[in-house]
Amino acid sequence: MSDFVKSPLNFTGGKFKLLEQIVPILNPEGRTFVDLFAGGLNVAVNVNAEKIIINEKLFCLIQLYETMYESEPVDFIKKLEARIAELGLTLTCQSSYENYKSNAKKGLAHINKASLDKLKSSFNIFENYDPIDFYILIIYSFNNQIRYNKKGYFNLPANKRDFNSTLKRRLINFLNSMRERNIEFLSRDFEDVEICNDSFIYADPPYLISTATYNENNNWNESDESRLLKYLDKASQEGAHFALSNFIQHNGRENYLLIEWAKKYNIRYIKSSYSNSSYRKSRSEKKEKTVEVLITNY
Ligand SMILES: C[S@@+](CC[C@H](N)C(=O)[O-])C[C@H]1O[C@@H](n2cnc3c(N)ncnc32)[C@H](O)[C@@H]1O
Repeated sequence: MSDFVKSPLNFTGGKFKLLEQIVPILNPEGRTFVDLFAGGLNVAVNVNAEKIIINEKLFCLIQLYETMYESEPVDFIKKLEARIAELGLTLTCQSSYENYKSNAKKGLAHINKASLDKLKSSFNIFENYDPIDFYILIIYSFNNQIRYNKKGYFNLPANKRDFNSTLKRRLINFLNSMRERNIEFLSRDFEDVEICNDSFIYADPPYLISTATYNENNNWNESDESRLLKYLDKASQEGAHFALSNFIQHNGRENYLLIEWAKKYNIRYIKSSYSNSSYRKSRSEKKEKTVEVLITNY
């Protein structure tokens, strides 16, 4: 089993499965580690650096991480479980499936749907909300994911699972790992994150040639990709180190912009966690390779 800490959020494109390959290449060595697109935070909580800056455009995520970081892990868990009980949601880390007249196969979505719908309707990305309620929304939503519609409302259906013992253990490890680190939080567009000559920037942006819930609705396009490549060029000129995760080939598409740009730097090939043997894929799709890389300027 891996010794790496796994995020208690399930992020499409989360780097947990690749940490064994990526972390040995990330070497902050006395530099400030900047996780420019923090997402589920799988990378920053597994890197050792004197100072870590965590940046993520989604303000609700940063607010949640700040609350987690500032709380004693036992207090955070106590508040979380009390709020789950108050909302009338199931809590199988304390009670069994039988108590809810269900089992692992049937799951809990049908039991939690009404309470989750009520919580969902009170939550909008553009408004103030309680970070613990936001985390509950993630836990009790499909696949522990985050997804909004264009109006900013959370729009995932209820999850089959709930806050169970496995997720509780994962959360405790994550909270402890955060608390062991010296972290500063930012919620900005990446371009507004200041570059320092002693920064080590890890960039794991949405990928131009694949889709995820956070880059639907044209949330990441060629213009963002160009802005990022320029930002990394500037960082490099100013003496910062960077490592950029990405796909240069995926599902029959190639990222030519990236391929050209990367010629100036070092390309390290990563054994991709994306399987091309999914039964849902057509025979021609199965033949398509995913080429996953880590591009560094050192
Ligand atoms: C691939 S995910 C990061 C996953 C993360 N490395 C992990 O392992 O969990 C990319 C993240 O970038 C965020 N993002 C998208 N556009 C951004 C921008 N312009 N500035 C900062 N963050 C952005 C998305 O919200 C998403 O959380």
